[in-house]
Amino acid sequence: MIDMLTAVHQDLPEEYRTLSDQELDRRITEAKRRLGSDLVILGHHYQRDDVIQFADYRGDSLKLAKIAEKLHDVKYIVFSGVHFMAETADTLTTDEQIVVLPDMKAGCSMADMADIDEVEEAWEVIQEEFGDTVIPVTYVNSTAAIKAFVGRHGGTTCTSSNAEAVLKWAFERKKRILFLPDQHLGRNTAYKMGIPLEQMIIWAPTTGEFEDYHCDREDVRMILWKGHCSVHQKFLPEHVHRVRERDPEMKVIVHPECSFEVVQLADDNGSTDYIIRTIEAAPPGSKWAIGTEVNLVQRLAQEHPEQKIMLLSTTMCPCLTMNRIDRPHLLWALENLVEGNVVNQIKVDPETTHWSKVALDRMLAIQ
Ligand code: 13P
Ligand code: SF4
Repeated sequence: MIDMLTAVHQDLPEEYRTLSDQELDRRITEAKRRLGSDLVILGHHYQRDDVIQFADYRGDSLKLAKIAEKLHDVKYIVFSGVHFMAETADTLTTDEQIVVLPDMKAGCSMADMADIDEVEEAWEVIQEEFGDTVIPVTYVNSTAAIKAFVGRHGGTTCTSSNAEAVLKWAFERKKRILFLPDQHLGRNTAYKMGIPLEQMIIWAPTTGEFEDYHCDREDVRMILWKGHCSVHQKFLPEHVHRVRERDPEMKVIVHPECSFEVVQLADDNGSTDYIIRTIEAAPPGSKWAIGTEVNLVQRLAQEHPEQKIMLLSTTMCPCLTMNRIDRPHLLWALENLVEGNVVNQIKVDPETTHWSKVALDRMLAIQ
């Protein structure tokens, strides 16, 4: 991944680590004021409260990508989110616009599970096995290199908000889909569309072999890359059983990055934006156990005291990489921009940008 980027990681200077909460808030507000309309801060729903409060726009991956694409007059886009989201913003903006990720270590363990060399090797095996009948689709939670790969091979990207519409688009073009890198989103979405589990096989990059391949070759419809989200895999079927045993009125809503078993047991599932809209529309007195990142669940619980909202799991489920974007890093990035210095810029190389934009534009055109 690093080969594909010209970005250079810079570490937070020591003096930013010891600032008080008040000082951080005051200086971030001041830096934002000084940067004015040159700056937009985009924040993903999983960000901590003390950071998301400074976002000009907050949203799920799809919404943030659509906003980034429209920020034509903005000089600096500071991303409070993770690396792949900032790469997407850089891909969808002009060469002159600058995208900053305040801490380069804010990655995504799922995106790291599909390496471009592994994908190229897998593609060769898949072509030998299935011929020209496969279209690649990648979840946006993937590197720009993987997005460029799917763009070059006639495929597209998806988010958890539009996965069903994207799979429908892809099946109109080819009989089979290679779905990267999240096996769970791929399986959950395809199953919802009526594809039986027997027609879904797994590609395991660590062994270079297919798994769960029990049907005839002709019947295979989905080839699922063996990747997952380390946060959402912590939600288990016993958590659903436990909350229901304790309170039968409790409704369970989960993100589709959860396992098939958990999604099947849940009352509902959808993207972070979908989860938020569902809670907002629920009547007072509703009871929810939510299977997604803990910052979002805690925020929903605070914003909706008229409902009973709890995390589905017994253990905290933080996305540790998202949480790397904290106020000291945000302040440091902003104060450097005020001085005309750019730290931790996300810059995707031109060739990768071209093809990943092809993939992203195809997705953005799908309704
Ligand atoms: P959303 O697209 O639902 O915001 O999800 C992004 C993500 O990384 C979930 O883990
Ligand atoms: Fe990646 Fe999971 Fe964190 Fe989302 S929650 S950014 S998929 S590690």
